[in-house]
Parts: sequence; structure tokens; C-alpha cells
Amino acid sequence: MSDRKLITAALPYANGPVHIGHLAGVYIPADVYARFQRRSGKDVAFICGSDEHGIPITIRAKKEGVTPQDIVDKYHGIIKKSFADLGISFDEYSRTTSAKHYDVSQDFFKTLYNKEKFTEEVSEQYFDEQANEFLADRYIVGTCPNCGNVNAYGDQCENCGSTLSPSELINPHSMLSGNIPVLKETKNWYLPLNDYETFLNQWIIEGHRDDWKTNVYGQVKSWLNDGLKPRAMTRDLNWGVPVPFPNAEGKVLYVWFDAPIGYISFTQEWAEKTGKNWKDYWQDPKSDLIHFIGKDNIVFHCIIFPAMMKAHGDYIMPTNVPAFEFLNLENEKISTSRNWAVWAHEYVEEFPGQQDVLRYALLSSAPETKDNNFTWKDFQTKNNSELVGIFGNFINRVVVLIHKYYDGVIPAGNADAEELIEIKRAAAEIAQYLENFEFRNSLTALMNLARFGNQYLQVEEPWKTIKDNPEKAAHSLFVGAQIAVALAQLSEPFMPFSSEKLLTMFNVEKLNWSDIETKDILIETGHQINESSLLFSKIEDTTIEFQIQKLENTKEENKKAVALQTVSQSEGAEAEAQIPKILLPAKDEIQFDDFTKIDLRTATILTAEKVEKADKLLKFTVDTGVDVRTVVSGVAESFKPEELIGKQVMILLNLAPRKIRGIVSQGMFLLTTKADGKLTFVTPDENVANGIEIG
Ligand code: 2FM
Ligand code: ZN
Repeated sequence: MSDRKLITAALPYANGPVHIGHLAGVYIPADVYARFQRRSGKDVAFICGSDEHGIPITIRAKKEGVTPQDIVDKYHGIIKKSFADLGISFDEYSRTTSAKHYDVSQDFFKTLYNKEKFTEEVSEQYFDEQANEFLADRYIVGTCPNCGNVNAYGDQCENCGSTLSPSELINPHSMLSGNIPVLKETKNWYLPLNDYETFLNQWIIEGHRDDWKTNVYGQVKSWLNDGLKPRAMTRDLNWGVPVPFPNAEGKVLYVWFDAPIGYISFTQEWAEKTGKNWKDYWQDPKSDLIHFIGKDNIVFHCIIFPAMMKAHGDYIMPTNVPAFEFLNLENEKISTSRNWAVWAHEYVEEFPGQQDVLRYALLSSAPETKDNNFTWKDFQTKNNSELVGIFGNFINRVVVLIHKYYDGVIPAGNADAEELIEIKRAAAEIAQYLENFEFRNSLTALMNLARFGNQYLQVEEPWKTIKDNPEKAAHSLFVGAQIAVALAQLSEPFMPFSSEKLLTMFNVEKLNWSDIETKDILIETGHQINESSLLFSKIEDTTIEFQIQKLENTKEENKKAVALQTVSQSEGAEAEAQIPKILLPAKDEIQFDDFTKIDLRTATILTAEKVEKADKLLKFTVDTGVDVRTVVSGVAESFKPEELIGKQVMILLNLAPRKIRGIVSQGMFLLTTKADGKLTFVTPDENVANGIEIG
């Protein structure tokens, strides 16, 4: 194990504040690890910063009607402050719009170019002629070829979950102008990832089978089994680090090329300020590089960035990439766009001085091996039963009794007491768990030491023995003080604010972790301690109810937004004035001839059944008047199959057949969305014969 630890935490996009999902799945575990390594005497560089390029930023800017720079300035400030408020102890928190980062990432690109590591490829990309911009995936919407969702994105349909490419969308439209984009040729620089397959197989698949987390290892293996393809490292966009060539106007580095290089440029910024040599961390094989990330970032940190560093030639490979799964909130997926989140900056304001409670609650439900859930009730229980009831209660008893019986001076006791072995055991156990990235187990081991302390006092009862056997009482409180100081020392990575209070309370200095594991006693007889101060306080039901109500309000607001989205245009100018942000712009004009190509008919549903292993799909047989045919449609979340039998519907008859989940679907129903987000069929006012043309 190396004495130098370069620890990185995924750069958050500066397009919104951070929430508990980010904290539980990346930043708090990374901070615990960094603090633990520092306490173990390692030379640590803990590096992070805001990811300020990429489509999420420009989309947010367009939504808010401001520039991308305005967006990143705003959120970089909010995010940086939240991290500091929650005690995330980055050595450097910078941003990818810094001048240094531009230099470093452009240099990196030029090195790869000069070493002929790129291929140049011309491809056809969608282009919005009115906006004069190439359209990255999220800037194109159209109809999903799989489920008929008319709001599918160029890279994904959020209705049926299928991965798409822009060319697959039916009726693609630009999000910028609403126009139909044209295909236009463009040249970009590609990194042939396939050239690195052998290297990646040897390094990860053969070399890290046993020490990397199974979720990470498995995902990398599956990517490598599927075979890698060249990936474009530049994009036609006007927001990003410019490609550093004179003939590359309008081209920027791919955000996933520039962002991980941020780890390097920020280390350089830190090294310049502190007189360190950044190369000791990034280029010395004796250094350990550890990337803390969420599971959606695995491919970038285990395949693409390593391939970039390998191509460059001067860099070490990560020793480990502990990736976390996702945290849900009250059993629902956390969503920034639906505001379904507990925001870090709001927590800090609403729970002043209670940062450690959030750190504790999130660590104890960290989504280490599978997705996990955060509920406000659980948060309350963890605080009231564990932090107040066990940890705080034990410390308080020790400090209060030592003041009461010995004027705050540690009494005499036997330093060979067998109970003191528990301290060394706990310190070693926590260390081992942390080295293995098992944060929940390490926290349990810490709390078990507090439990042990409570049980010890309960059995010893110094408040009783003080009368008849004062020597025994003194020994009990001597041992109690050793355990309490151990908790003060060992809790620092997890609950740094409380640890600091405790160290002040016991009037002791921070110890190195190995000292805690080896020293016989942690606080001497005769040592004067300070008065007890409040560590944790009970969280009342009303506080939790307020938070739950806040989430309920969010649900209501989301429902209203869906309702607005579906307000029909005939409902008046006032309603219309509120919706242009949500409704798609009107499509381009078409000629009557275009319209007559569409064969819309009335039809009746004869049978309806679920499609196996597809939650959203139903399979129908339909009498179209001209024939009986099969249609697959993504309406299963809005209707039970039996409700639809006999229903008259409208069908697009001459849509080319498509295979959906192995079933050939011949046609598409006309559907729209109701205020509650459910689908509804567009039907004739009253039943007519099947096969009647609509127009
Ligand atoms: O997924 C994300 O939030 C990205 N901004 C993470 C970037 S990590 C790194 F590579 F910079
Ligand atoms: Zn779909």
C-alpha cells in the first residue's frame, strides 16, 4: 500500500445544486476515506471541482434564458459552499472553466494528436440551420420508434427506456428552434478505444478481479466483451474548451475528455499553491490513484480516461474505482428536474449545526452494493436512537460523572483493563473496513464501540459504587474516559464536527490512527477535561413532518406542471402564456400532399394483453375495417388490458411495420396525455364504422 493517496471525487455538473444522492454516493464516502488516510499519516491530495462544460449546462442556460457562464458561476458557488458547510475536506475544489484547466486539457489533447493517437473521421450530424448549430443528442426530440412517445430524446426515450441515436427518431425536431434539422457533414477527432482493449483486459479483467467492487468489475467486463469502438473526443458546440487548432473553429473538446483531465489540472493548481510537485501524485508508480464516482460514471473512469492516460503515456492508472449505486428518496428515484431531492444547501440552512447527522444518516444508508433508500423517518430514528440515544448518551454520562465526582479530572484506573482491548480492536476493524471501501460496516464498528461503552457503564454503575467502592467507580470512569476519547478520535472521518467538539471537551490532540490502535491509554489519569457541550439533540416529529410536507408539495407542483403541459390550445390565451416552456414549438409547415400521405382510420380493439417482461407495453389485435392486425403500444401504465377491449380508436394505418420486443407492430394509435400524466386515446365523438378515414 502506498503512502501517497491521490483521491478524486467525480466533478459535479455546475447546472444545479448537489443533493443527498450525490453526497451519499460520492462525496461523503470519499471524504471519510480521505480523512482516514490523512489520520493514518498518508500524503493525501483530495481533488474535486465543478464540471462546467457539456450539454447539461447549456440546456439549463437555455431554460433560464441566461448564458452558460452565468449558470456555472451561480452553481459553482452554491456547490462549493455546500461541500465546505458539510465538512467535505477537499484539498482543492476548482472548476473546469479555469485558465489552468484550459491549458492542461488543450496540452493533453495536443500530446495525443502529436503522438498520432487520434483518427480523424467525417460523419453526418444533425444541424439546425436556423440556430446555426450542430445538435447534440439532447437537443433533438422526436417520436420513439419503440413506444411512440413523441418526446423522446436523441439519445434516449424516457418513456420506454430504450437507448436511441438521433437518426432513429421519427419526425426529429430541434429543441432550439423547433425546426426539422438537416444532416450535415462534420470532421471530428476520435480515440480508437478498440486499440486499448488488450491493455484494459490485462489491467482490469486479469489484474483487478479480486480487489475491485463487483459492480465496477462486471460493468467493465461487459463493455469489453461487447467490444470497444472509436469515440469522438471533440464536438461541434460553442460551449467547452476549444480544440487548440487554428482550423477548428466551432469545435470543443468532448466534455468527457476535458472533465477527467480536471483532476490533473486541479492537482496542479493545488501544487502551485502549496509547493508540492503534482507529478509525485500523477506520474509516480508509487502513488495510489482512487476515483470515487457514481455507477453511471464507470465507463468513463475505467475505460475512456485510462485509455486517454495510456495514450498520453506519462500517467499512472487508478488503483481502485469505488463506484456507488444510487440513493432513492422516500422510495422514488431522486430527480433534479422534478425537484425530488433533499438539497445540500437547503439542509444546511434548515438543520443548522447538524451536518454530522446528515453525514451519519447518509453513510449508514450509503448505496454501496445496491441502490438504497433515504426516508425522513429513518433519518429521525438514526439521530434520536443512535446518535442521541447511544453515542451522545455515553459521552454525556462519562463527562458529567467525571465532573461530578472528580471535578473534571480523569480518575485513577488500571491501564491493563481487558475492556480497553475493545478500543484497539475497533480502531483496527474500522481501518480494515475503510481500506476495503466498506463504509457502512466501518460506521457500524464505530457505533458498536459506543454501544460497548454504554453497556460497560450500565454494568459497572459507578454512580452506585462511588458510595461503597470509590476505587471501583474511579476505575470504571477511567475506562469510560478511554472509550470516550477513542470515540472522539475515531469518529473524525465520519463526523468531523462532533469529533472536534469531543476533542475540545476532553482537551486532547488528534492522534494518528496507528497510535489509537496501539496506545494502551488515550487519556492520562490527572488530565483536566472541559465541560460537556451538546453533541446531538432530539429531532422532533414536527421537523420531520415539515420535510415530508415539502416533498408532498413538490409532488403537487409536478402534477400541476404535467397538467399545464396538456392544456389544450383552445383554452385561452392566459393558459397558453404559461406553457411555451413546456410545449414543443409548432412544427414546420407541410403541404396538403404531405398530409394526404397519412392514412388515419377508425378501428376497434378486439384483444389486449400484456407483453412479457415489458412493463409499459400492451399487444392488441385491432379491426381496422380493412384487415385485422397486431399493434404494440406503450400504454400499459395507463390502462388495464381488459378496459380496452371493444374500444374504438384512431390508428395510423400506413406506418411501416416495426418489431417491438420481437412482435411486429402494424400501425400506431393516436394518443394524448391527461393532466395526471396518464395516456388517453383520441377517439371519435361517437362510434362509427371501422376503417373510416380521418381527415
Ligand atoms: O456525471 C457527472 O456528474 C459528471 N459531471 C462527472 C464528471 S467526473 C470527471 F470525469 F470529471
Ligand atoms: Zn420509447
